[in-house]
Amino acid sequence: MSKQFDVIVIGGGPGGYIAAIRAAQLGFNVACIDEWKNAKGGPALGGTCTNVGCIPSKALLQSSEHFEHAGHGFADHGINVSGLSLDIAKMLARKDQVVKQNNDGITYLFKKNKISSFHGRGSFVKAAEGGYEIKVAGAAEETIVGKHIIVATGSNARALPGAAFDEENILSNDGALRMGAVPKKLALIGSGVIGLEMGSVWRRLGSEVTVLEALPTFLGAVDEQIAKEAKKAFDKQGLKIELGVKVGEIKSGKKGVSIAWTNAKGEAQTLDVDKLIVSIGRVPNTIGLNPEAVGLALDERGAINVDGECKTNLPNVWAIGDVVRGPMLAHKAEEEGVAVAERIAGQHGHVNFNTIPWVIYTHPEIAWVGQTEQQLKAEGRAYKAGSFPFLANGRARALGDTTGMVKFLADAATDEILGVHMVGPQVSELISEAVVAMEFKASAEDIARICHAHPSLSEATKEAALAVDKRTLNF
Ligand code: FAD
Ligand code: NAI
Repeated sequence: MSKQFDVIVIGGGPGGYIAAIRAAQLGFNVACIDEWKNAKGGPALGGTCTNVGCIPSKALLQSSEHFEHAGHGFADHGINVSGLSLDIAKMLARKDQVVKQNNDGITYLFKKNKISSFHGRGSFVKAAEGGYEIKVAGAAEETIVGKHIIVATGSNARALPGAAFDEENILSNDGALRMGAVPKKLALIGSGVIGLEMGSVWRRLGSEVTVLEALPTFLGAVDEQIAKEAKKAFDKQGLKIELGVKVGEIKSGKKGVSIAWTNAKGEAQTLDVDKLIVSIGRVPNTIGLNPEAVGLALDERGAINVDGECKTNLPNVWAIGDVVRGPMLAHKAEEEGVAVAERIAGQHGHVNFNTIPWVIYTHPEIAWVGQTEQQLKAEGRAYKAGSFPFLANGRARALGDTTGMVKFLADAATDEILGVHMVGPQVSELISEAVVAMEFKASAEDIARICHAHPSLSEATKEAALAVDKRTLNF
């Protein structure tokens, strides 16, 4: 007799493991199947985010930022460093340790919540009495049955046609996070989130970095004014970003990678580099899931088809996170996981897609929530804008980090906040205030009237809200 569960979650990334925990909190008997293997072949819960995504990238961003400060920033504070050197092996080992702490944390949480954890690949077998039969293929093979199935199988890096990932010369996010030496010359294809974050890491550590981007505009999804300000900062740092390019043949050999490309003027170019990172987006992952066995419907992109509530075409089968529509973000996956567990329990789980924040962890950081100015213009919506530069913020001056601004967009008639856009120091943290405000349908004036600690970067948020009504106090 197969083991029977109320809920089986396939995938232990941020979507899946959070769904499992919430379902267990709600009193369900829960199993989670995840196939990720650590270096020793053991389980490594946390998915892309924990193993080769959010967490290791932020560890390396931090380490490389320390290195850059020590090399270039400390002198301004009267701190002289001599004999600065880089121990890349130690830096990578620290990053791996941070990953392991997170893997272990999730294992602990599964034990605490009495979740049955299966290490191996989960695939649909058939609809069965009492739910669905799921095969787990790991060290051993077994079949378990779940009344509800939550698919959270994530995404994989998209490869460029004709340039398959070998993780030696042509790297996905995985290889980009474990180069054992700093490449002298590094190219990235795609100046999206990974391109900018990984490009920043390796530039800070000493690589000469070129980013080739197909689109003619830089960070098209970001508010134009913010994207322009960010581009200025990246140019100044020496991150070479070529826009409007067409990538041609890519040859990989013992000496590195040679990329044929055409620039925005249509001129043929060749770029020879030691390593190439391809960061042109990610594809939903249903490899090995065997959705055909039960008739689970996918869309034309290969994502699992779901409605606004993450319901698939099959009764009691749900899908969340990167494997479904919407932004590929860990916190979006988590929110969907919580909402689905609550819906299974008959509650009214809800995800507000209008208030999902985005953060790019470069320096300066870029963060936003809600609509951009170009979107409001395209909609023909009447709005007011207000912005405040970090240059006029006392804390930013004390930090020596005055690049960027906070910008508010509010409805012209009601003053309701429609979007908040930031580029500057620690805006990954500052954006939360804007998210809370928008969730509560606050007006710009609400933020302008709230007392903010002095001196703090958050005063720039208050001042930008004041700027909507043209009454900044410090600018
Ligand atoms: P995943 O995290 O991909 O997890 C899916 C899990 O399912 C994996 O463990 C996989 O092995 C397992 N699996 C797949 N198929 C099966 C199967 N059939 N049986 C068993 N197990 C299976 N997002 C942010 O919000 N902030 C960031 O800073 C950020 N940084 C990123 C940096 C990089 C370099 C990358 C690549 C991504 C980053 N992301 C970030 C995106 C984030 O990682 C994803 O949005 C998030 O991991 C999606 O979560 P998920 O649970 O849907 O899927
Ligand atoms: P992306 O979608 O952010 O950017 C891909 C870029 O590649 C785009 O600018 C696109 O125009 C360009 N591109 C596509 N095809 C191209 C081609 N043939 N030649 C040149 N350029 C081309 O995707 P990315 O950076 O791979 O990241 C994947 C996803 O992972 C992100 O969309 C995001 O959801 C998530 N992520 C989130 C992070 C965060 O929240 N801080 C960090 C890293 C990733």
